[in-house]
This record gives sequence, structure tokens and C-alpha cells, in this order.
Amino acid sequence: MDITGKTALITGGALRIGRALTLALAQAGCHIILHYHRSEEEAQKTARDAEAFGVRVWLRQADLGRLDDPMSLFTELPPGFSPVQILINNAAIFPKDTLLDFSMEDWQRVMRINLRSPVLLTQAFARTLPEDKMGVVINMTDWRTERPYKTHFIYTLSKGALDTFTRAAALQLAPRVRVNGIALGAMLPPEGASASYWQSVLATVPLKQGGGAESAADTLLYLLRNDFITGETIRLTGGAHLRM
Ligand SMILES: NC(=O)c1ccc[n+]([C@@H]2O[C@H](COP(=O)([O-])OP(=O)(O)OC[C@H]3O[C@@H](n4cnc5c(N)ncnc54)[C@H](OP(=O)(O)O)[C@@H]3O)[C@@H](O)[C@H]2O)c1
Repeated sequence: MDITGKTALITGGALRIGRALTLALAQAGCHIILHYHRSEEEAQKTARDAEAFGVRVWLRQADLGRLDDPMSLFTELPPGFSPVQILINNAAIFPKDTLLDFSMEDWQRVMRINLRSPVLLTQAFARTLPEDKMGVVINMTDWRTERPYKTHFIYTLSKGALDTFTRAAALQLAPRVRVNGIALGAMLPPEGASASYWQSVLATVPLKQGGGAESAADTLLYLLRNDFITGETIRLTGGAHLRM
């Protein structure tokens, strides 16, 4: 897809990896619906930085744990925006829990944000995509669905189901909509993580470095532009998935 001039909707696009994806889309000439939940100031700053590339940005606040009207994100666009042709499901939460201690409240929250929301947004996206337009969905996921964490139990299940969803949706929505995933490894330290924790993570990465947000952004642009890839999830792990 030639993405210049297309409208992209990104969830959790205000900071960290979401911000890098937003700015890469803007630099490539996409107009952006920038969703955020709590990070209003950061969203405004990212919007200003994206607009500096000469594109339009519209901010949308929503709690994706309570996504009651997903269609409105695609139908209530301000004047000057063409229909959304690119959807990036990036927002997620990463709580620590195990099979033995998780609560049903946590289960509901994680599954609603990490799985139900990308599914409902993709459904709304496909339903509202005009018949003469092509679309692309990218789901941000985690290679640790293949090699589960001992902790982050519900998160791992939610992202594993998202991987399956990527393939199922790719088949159901072809040929008009492509659906792909990016399975991230150690890109950025989790919020609040200590330097020693992050060093201990990087020590397990064969390439001995973190991926950084820009590596995710490069992969995003590649998947958006390549019209023959669908149902694929690309691992960005620095080789971590190769270790025994
Ligand atoms: N960082 C890594 O190394 C890594 C590794 C593997 C996979 N990933 C995946 O890559 C993606 C981006 O990673 P990240 O570390 O940049 O993510 P993050 O900072 O943990 O979260 C991204 C955004 O999710 C939004 N969010 C959280 N709860 C929400 C809710 N209830 N409703 C709506 N939005 C909500 C937040 O928006 P607000 O700030 O506006 O509240 C947040 O900015 C995620 O899907 C993550 O699972 C990341």
C-alpha cells in the first residue's frame, strides 16, 4: 500500500513504542487518529511532533477496557480526514500474575484491553472500510507467547490469542484487508523497571541490545507497504527466540 495521504488509527499512540509508531506514520505522510487513555499531555506533544511532518492529527480519548462503541472511532471523523485504512492495535497492559494467583477481575481487565479491544476495533474497521478501499491492520504482540513468562500469565494468554486472531482475521478479511503482527522482544524497559533488571534482560539477548522503539517503527512501515504479506507475525527479538 502506498500509505502517503492515508488515514491511520493507532491505539495507545502517545508515548513509548506507540509514539515512535505515530511519528513514523506521520513522517511517511499518514494522517492520524491518535488514541490515548490517560496520557493526555504526552498525546498532545506527540500530536504536535507528528503535525510537524505536515499531516493532520486528531486526538481521541477512550478507555479500551470499556469500549462500548468501537464504530464511532471510524465513523466520527473530523472534516478533512479520509476513511481509516490503517489500524494499529498497540495499547496493552502488562500486569504481573501467575496461574495460581490471578483474579477474575484482572482476567477481565487484561482480556478486554489486550484482546477484546483489538478484535472489536478490527471488526469495526472492516465494517466501515469503503468497498473501493484496501485496508491494513497491525497487531502489536510479544514473542513470549511462544516461550511463556513464569509471570504475566493473563497477558501471555491475551497476546497468544491475539496471534491466533491475526491469522484468523487475515483469512476472513482477505483480499481487501491484510492483517499482520509484530512480536516484540526486549524493546524498551517496562515502566518503572530498574537499570539492573534491564541489563539482566539484555544479557539474555544474543544481539546484546534492546530493540528500541524505532526498530518497531521500521517493521511497521515494511508490513504496511508490502501488499503480499498477510497473516504473518514478524519477531523482533535480537535473536532471543533462538536460545534454548
Ligand atoms: N516494551 C516492550 O519491550 C514490549 C515487549 C513486548 C511487547 N510489547 C507490546 O508492544 C506494545 C507497546 O508497548 P509499550 O511498552 O510501549 O506499551 P505501554 O507503554 O505499556 O502501553 C501502551 C499504551 O497502552 C495504553 N493503555 C493502557 N491501558 C489502556 C486502557 N484501559 N485503554 C486504552 N489504552 C490503554 C496506554 O495509554 P495511555 O498512556 O494514554 O494511558 C499506554 O500508553 C504493547 O502492545 C505491548 O504489549 C512491548
